[in-house]
Amino acid sequence: MNNLLVTGGCGFIGTNFIRYLLSLAESGGKQGFSGRIINVDKLTYAGNPDNLSDMEARYPGRYHFVHADICDLPAMEKIIDDFSIDAICHFAAESHVDRSIVAPDAFVQTNVIGTFHLLELARKNSKRIERFHHISTDEVFGSLGEQGFFTEKTPYDPSSPYSASKAGSDHLVRAYRRTYDLPVTLSNCSNNYGPYQFPEKLIPLMILNAVAGQSLPVYGDGRNVRDWLYVEDHCRAIWQVMTAGRFGETYNVGGRCEMQNIDVVEKMCDIIDRKIPDKKIGSRRQLITFVKDRPGHDRRYAIDCAKIEKELRWQPQESFDTGLEKTIDWYLQNKAWVQRVQSGEYQQWMDQQYGGR
Ligand code: NAD
Ligand code: TYD
Repeated sequence: MNNLLVTGGCGFIGTNFIRYLLSLAESGGKQGFSGRIINVDKLTYAGNPDNLSDMEARYPGRYHFVHADICDLPAMEKIIDDFSIDAICHFAAESHVDRSIVAPDAFVQTNVIGTFHLLELARKNSKRIERFHHISTDEVFGSLGEQGFFTEKTPYDPSSPYSASKAGSDHLVRAYRRTYDLPVTLSNCSNNYGPYQFPEKLIPLMILNAVAGQSLPVYGDGRNVRDWLYVEDHCRAIWQVMTAGRFGETYNVGGRCEMQNIDVVEKMCDIIDRKIPDKKIGSRRQLITFVKDRPGHDRRYAIDCAKIEKELRWQPQESFDTGLEKTIDWYLQNKAWVQRVQSGEYQQWMDQQYGGR
């Protein structure tokens, strides 16, 4: 892998992945990456070029940003030719379930059609492309009851337009392996949290609202369960799959960290009260407001990650307590980043949809 195309690198996980990979090279470990990264991003509301603005200067010749839409086939073909792309790590997606419920079109376009275009280009350049790694989600499996875990063999049963579009893209990636022998791998991961996550997802939204003394909207009864993973653990897993994963295989990635939403929110309230007590706000737990449930809200996600643990010797390194402390500190220390993402298109969209929730 000399010329790695990363799609959606200006989003939450893509940013963390690029930072992780380039810092690995710096530390010179045997798992390092010595090639260059070409980050292609459309810069939707969720893509933030500020996230990686220091990379070109810090890693001269090792990092390039190209503003493009993965659905634009001629533009993507030119990028793949111009940079002699020989590996692809595909993050670009519309990623928020709530948005997919009110406006599913972009989800089908980017997640299904965009992935299809990339696969077609990989097929066309199959002599050069060594690996196509597709990043996916545990949400493709639908909802669990109180018992059991998602394994790589769990049948797909998506509930939202987001998860259905990701399921569609996963099927296409597997079909390109079976039909055209493309060197693909897939990873299906549970809920991530950490720095650079757009404040529409549960954890950053709650941090920022709690700091500001605003309402903390918990959907339904707050007892839905998610399996949380610190984003850098996910990035290590992706790189492990990209360097040692078997072609055609899927690897489930999770934190073995099941939490009910209400417990996550209460924990965050307590940490923020401790870090920045505010007499006017009082206990942040008082800000919790139970609101109307999300339609089709999956009750429980939990990943069985035995395959990646055994086969690739990957394990999460961060506990939820340490990861959450780090994440809250990051949001407290990066006020300029927060202000920029809160001031733009995102805010207008949220105001239109939720009346400035
Ligand atoms: P994100 O929304 O933060 O970032 C998505 C990025 O893709 C943005 O930079 C955006 O500008 C870019 N993008 C969107 N449409 C594009 C297009 N047509 N062309 C080029 N770029 C485009 O998402 P994220 O949370 O970083 O998720 C990244 C990937 O990981 C997604 O495929 C998602 O399904 C998957 N995933 C996310 C989680 C999670 O908890 N966030 C968990 C498992 C899997
Ligand atoms: P989210 O971060 O949107 O991730 P996903 O829907 O992909 O799991 O939501 C995580 C959980 O938190 C999910 O059960 C929905 C719930 N939730 C709330 O209760 N309130 C909120 O404001 C948000 C954004 C999510």
